[in-house]
Amino acid sequence: MHLKIALLAGDGIGPEVLAQSVKCLEAIGETFNHDFTFSKALVGAGAIEKSGTPLPEKTLERCADSDAILFGTIGTPRYDNDPSARIRPEQGLLQLRKELGLFANIRPVKMFPEIISNSPLRKDLVKGTDFVIYRELTGGIYFGEKKLSEDGSVASDLCEYTEKEISRIAHLAFKAAKKRRKKLTLVDKANVLETSRLWRKVVTQIADSYPEVTMECLYIDNAAVQLLLNPSSFDVILTDNMFGDMLSDQGSVIIGSQGLLPSASIGEHHCMFEPVHGSYPQAKGENKANPVASILSTALLLDHFGLREEYNAVVASVRKSLQKKIVTPDILGSSKYGTDYVGDFIADHITDIDDDMNMNDENIGLGKSTII
Ligand code: IPM
Ligand code: MG
Repeated sequence: MHLKIALLAGDGIGPEVLAQSVKCLEAIGETFNHDFTFSKALVGAGAIEKSGTPLPEKTLERCADSDAILFGTIGTPRYDNDPSARIRPEQGLLQLRKELGLFANIRPVKMFPEIISNSPLRKDLVKGTDFVIYRELTGGIYFGEKKLSEDGSVASDLCEYTEKEISRIAHLAFKAAKKRRKKLTLVDKANVLETSRLWRKVVTQIADSYPEVTMECLYIDNAAVQLLLNPSSFDVILTDNMFGDMLSDQGSVIIGSQGLLPSASIGEHHCMFEPVHGSYPQAKGENKANPVASILSTALLLDHFGLREEYNAVVASVRKSLQKKIVTPDILGSSKYGTDYVGDFIADHITDIDDDMNMNDENIGLGKSTII
């Protein structure tokens, strides 16, 4: 298969972790005879410095013209600490999602048995955790009208959703649930928000077309609690842009590190793959950030293009690194291995699917049909 892949490294640890993903894709290309071509483009703070905008026209064109985008991370303290900045790195990512119509953000959260003791929660609670968050990505409060009064003392962000925006992601989430454990949890705040009531109405109607899937509704505050008390009871979580952002970070902590969770952002014509974690500016250039979330995002890319064996090979290699403790210090405090070394190990072992890993779908880190 030939794939044109745009590389948007972004800020902070983005370039370091993305470089490891490229190594893995190159190893996959060699082993399975695929032709991946890469082209780099600027986004975020680096793009602001060079061109005054976080998403230069050239970057958008390159992305639109690619088969897939691999994204690093975005954001720097300079902007975080300056609430008056009107141009911010994050706008680059948000605009990219919007312009390319990447409305479904899919975030699988699955416990790796090799590092179950890394979870801050009790082993018996987190054992078997395997859920996937379907986060709406191009609507809601992220994209509604933003206002700041002239004297700067009043601000507002509009949260708006249309039936269409809700139903298109709801269908994807129900289809995923159908292939998984057939349970879908809609997370909202319908006791307070009008948009949440619209979500409930639309999603409840759609549920009729998927009789084999059991649907439940949870308020976000309760969902945050249940996710900690009983994470393994969740299968597919469907939710809006803002709640999905929060719940997915919570998910990463449940499985033991923020450096582990990948994501896929899917639209009708484009797709982008990026770690769930942020730009971790404190670790920038230190060669200590965990590359696994980014590497697993490439696994999702492969899965998206139907390259199942290749997906399995990446996940198996990641698991091997965990098993052999070739990990960054977020996973094992005393580890002497850095981002580069872990990336090399995973890329180098992509080909040897050996017996002791007992390769079958039940054992694969991210589980079945993570995407659609
Ligand atoms: C994420 C990130 C982004 C978001 C930021 C960087 C804009 O937190 O992808 O979860 O809020 O969507
Ligand atoms: Mg986030």
